[in-house]
Amino acid sequence: LNRPATAVAHPNIALIKYWGKRDEQLMIPYADSLSMTLDVFPTTTTVRIDSGAAADEVVLDGSPTDGERRQRVVTFLDLVRKLAGRTERACVDTRNSVPTGAGLASSASGFAALALAGAAAYGLDLDTTALSRLARRGSVSASRSVFGGFAMCHAGPGAGAAADLGSYAEPVPVAPFDVALVIAIVDAGPKAVSSREGMRRTVRTSPLYPSWVASGRADLAEMRAALLQADLDAVGEIAERNALGMHATMLAARPAVRYLAPVTVAVLDSVLRLRADGVSAYATMDAGPNVKVLCRRADADRVADTLRDAAPGCAVVVAGPGPAARPDPG
Ligand code: DP6
Repeated sequence: LNRPATAVAHPNIALIKYWGKRDEQLMIPYADSLSMTLDVFPTTTTVRIDSGAAADEVVLDGSPTDGERRQRVVTFLDLVRKLAGRTERACVDTRNSVPTGAGLASSASGFAALALAGAAAYGLDLDTTALSRLARRGSVSASRSVFGGFAMCHAGPGAGAAADLGSYAEPVPVAPFDVALVIAIVDAGPKAVSSREGMRRTVRTSPLYPSWVASGRADLAEMRAALLQADLDAVGEIAERNALGMHATMLAARPAVRYLAPVTVAVLDSVLRLRADGVSAYATMDAGPNVKVLCRRADADRVADTLRDAAPGCAVVVAGPGPAARPDPG
């Protein structure tokens, strides 16, 4: 009884982005999204029920947290307790292998691991769809980190309970695929504008938002076809235009939401030069200045060297497709 439960999950990078929630309470996105789960930067989370405790304790990378970060975890645990019909408080111990809040998807791996460990600790028996739906309540991108390889998150139909039920991720079929993602960590510090605030402002004020969502629908259909054919150039082209379109949409917000830094642009230039030299390399960027470059495994070292030259002093990490979230027996 009340055995601690530990889970491990990996971040994912969206090749088709969602940006904007139509329900912030239920965490329902406006748009479908599609991602690759990575084999680097896992998050390991242990949930231990503490029947005697008056409040949840949240420990992040060895230090107790409070404020907004803790509150997000407590709110999530409240949801798990409600689903499980239980009331005891818990201690959550999370270890990230990547800086939190730096646009490297620690919320995706974090809430996927917390969903799995929390459900296990409170005795909830969930299938992967239900687990993905639950993880989405912590962070929309976390719904996708429940799965390994490539996954898509449905925006779901309608509003309220119907939307909640219909918004979850599932694996996307792909042909055997030789792919790497080379990550240039331009800035590992926390971002200036949280993705939550950035999304809110973009949805409310960017005149480009509706057309970006519409073009994302077309991008998603083309992306699925390209993945079935293991067509790296098509996958890369679609991912790059989807990401640049998202950033253009943010830049058109009032005031502008800008995550791209001078080094980001220098890295994007180096990706164009790689392509001019015949290397299949395509960039994507999220809510931060870091650049992730899709390429073939065989080209990954050359791409990594190019990114290092373009962004002197920045860490560059080569990732591949990673595993699904899993319980860690310890
Ligand atoms: C640009 O889903 O991590 O990476 O739900 O507020 O936690 P919260 O945000 P999150 O935002 C991800 C934004 C994105 C696009 C994507 O991953 O689809």
